[in-house]
Amino acid sequence: MPALVLLGAQWGDEGKGKATDLLGGSVDYVVRYQGGNNAGHTVVVGDQKYALHLLPSGILSPGCVPVIGNGVVVDPSVLLSELSGLNERGVDTSGLLLSGNAHLIAPYHTEVDKVTERFLGKRKIGTTGRGIGPAYADKINRVGLRVQDLFDESILTQKVEAALDFKNQVLAKLYNRRAVRTDQVVEELLGYADRLRGYVADTTLILNDAVDEGKVVLFEGGQGTLLDVDHGTYPFVTSSNPTAGGACTGAGVGPTKISRVIGILKAYTTRVGAGPFPTELLDADGEALREIGGERGVTTGRDRRCGWFDAVIARYATRVNGLTDFFLTKLDVLTGWERVPVCVAYEIEGRRVTELPFSQSDFHHAVPVYEYLPGWSEDITGAKSFSDLPKNAQGYVKALEEMSGAPISAIGVGPGRDETIQINSFL
Ligand code: GDP
Ligand code: IMO
Ligand code: MG
Repeated sequence: MPALVLLGAQWGDEGKGKATDLLGGSVDYVVRYQGGNNAGHTVVVGDQKYALHLLPSGILSPGCVPVIGNGVVVDPSVLLSELSGLNERGVDTSGLLLSGNAHLIAPYHTEVDKVTERFLGKRKIGTTGRGIGPAYADKINRVGLRVQDLFDESILTQKVEAALDFKNQVLAKLYNRRAVRTDQVVEELLGYADRLRGYVADTTLILNDAVDEGKVVLFEGGQGTLLDVDHGTYPFVTSSNPTAGGACTGAGVGPTKISRVIGILKAYTTRVGAGPFPTELLDADGEALREIGGERGVTTGRDRRCGWFDAVIARYATRVNGLTDFFLTKLDVLTGWERVPVCVAYEIEGRRVTELPFSQSDFHHAVPVYEYLPGWSEDITGAKSFSDLPKNAQGYVKALEEMSGAPISAIGVGPGRDETIQINSFL
């Protein structure tokens, strides 16, 4: 059972960090395959809380090799400060492997991200402002910078020049900003080279060998299915593929090597940034979910939009990712409601729809059709097995499993590593 993908089944922040960390102890490699430091993954180990952005959550498990794959966009200053932050807390990060083919986020990407959002005005995406979209745009436009370019000053200079040729026109003429100087960018980037050199490796080769040798490799997605640039709520998405196929392109491992795909699914729904969200609650229930669930962004500190569980989305995630399992998180947050609404379908212009509509205007007009499941009031944070859960909490999990199209193999009842009910093993 060597290669698993673990990804978000909703709009991100489902608890991927906790789930990856939980598996980390029994995994040989944990690989980020897309996204960058737009991600914010919280891991709680004992009384210690870690916020990871670029590094795979497996970095906290001794013996597990953390890998940043070719599909990730890497801001070198963020990577180095994340590494030193962990080192200061006693975490050994020396085993990190960084793909030489991963693209770099340069300072001008971050600037373009911010000014683009400002100019979009009320049509803005609500990005994290970390330069993610502009860095991926340059990759696709073939004017991107890669990690390996850091080690050849002449190539780096030529590439920065090529990228800035166009971008400076946009910055100066369209956005009224000062043009960026090639020599300054090159100097800054070269300043990171020596500190990164030791991590750079042929990660595709290493990962394929590992899988062939029967080692356990876990691919950790950032963001979530509905933020996928192809399968999400475009244009209100991120600029990469968090869905399962992204693990293949973003790490250089073929689909025949992937044995299991685990969708992390919050027991309710949240979203950060703009875009449609059918079950969003703008009332006291939404506020209560935010307070009890601590729904504030790890990366930007923004309040997360909160709403009830949406089974249409969960089924869609099962479909586009080929999910084999779900890890249901934050069930404990729902304790205390007399009855818990669950969206089982949408009503769109008088029609009842049970699959996610492919038309964006249909999705914008989707009105949730709710089923009301009986709630529970008992504290469930100490539950160790499914049978420890109150009958109604069991019923809630069973109902969600039936609606969502894949078995729920683990349940989170608190943020800590040990606050998990394992139903089926992932390995
Ligand atoms: P990620 O981006 O998917 O890794 O998720 P985040 O870390 O951004 O947000 C998830 C939050 O929920 C974090 O604060 C976690 O510590 C917390 N969390 C994860 N699983 C559970 C759970 O089962 N119960 C509770 N109460 N909190 C959880
Ligand atoms: P994790 O990995 C939630 C959202 C942003 C914005 C959109 C595009 O912690 O689940 P970007 O900066 O990527 O261009 O922003 O995507 N977004 C996330 N929302 N969790 C995340 O990561 C996110 N990463 C990006 O809020 O709406
Ligand atoms: Mg997060």
